Amino acid sequence: MRIIRTVDYKDMSRKAANVISAQVILKPKSVLGLATGTTPIGTYKQLAAWCAKGDVDFSQVSTYNLDEYRGLSHEDVQSYHYFMRTNFFDHINIDLANTHVPDGSNPDADAACREYDRMVAEAGYPDLQLLGIGRNGHIGFNEPGPYFSKGTHMVNLTESTIKANSRLFDSEDQVPRQAYTMGVQTIMYARSILVVANGEEKADAVYRMCYGPVDPQCPASILQLHTNCTVIADEAALSKCPRA
Ligand code: F6R
Repeated sequence: MRIIRTVDYKDMSRKAANVISAQVILKPKSVLGLATGTTPIGTYKQLAAWCAKGDVDFSQVSTYNLDEYRGLSHEDVQSYHYFMRTNFFDHINIDLANTHVPDGSNPDADAACREYDRMVAEAGYPDLQLLGIGRNGHIGFNEPGPYFSKGTHMVNLTESTIKANSRLFDSEDQVPRQAYTMGVQTIMYARSILVVANGEEKADAVYRMCYGPVDPQCPASILQLHTNCTVIADEAALSKCPRA
């Protein structure tokens, strides 16, 4: 694992955007695995700014998002479909037909998840997978549990995740209780992984991801076994980790 310490959120976002830009410049037809959440918003903004200047070109890129709430339409403002359009895709020169998010509007969990696995496999898996990390060490919606998950599957969200995500809804009751998520095994198939993290509330999870035992009780800890994983995190998120 490569760990890059940044002074603050802005620095984290610029460095992460640099890594993603380099990937796309080196391979214009890159397959990117993408994440939602608050952490990557600055990275997406920076990439959009560079794209507007002509410094990075997404016209041949295809993307596969990690997860989506079950039961929300693609137009629902709380859906990850909507999040990706408004925070990223609408601001870059990507072909929307090349962007993919699990189909949360399909109530048939097995069919929706099987179809997503088929599409990700057919694309050859991401060249670069961008990840955030939950306070409990989750990646995608792969919550702590007795084993590491495999392919795309439906999950029941934990109380802590529902609570954390409720800040984006009017009330906790409105947070969907289920989601479809890429599995940990699929995430590990990516040829490179970039984790972004900021803020003190992520410090425990970041420590366990980088230095704890590889344990499904902290799903992100498996990233220690990936051969090309980079963590870009600010001082606060790395405050519990030893300085290299
Ligand atoms: C979102 C996702 C989640 C988030 C994590 C951190 O697609 O996969 O694992 O990355 O919950 O979320 P933020 O960045 O909001 O702290």
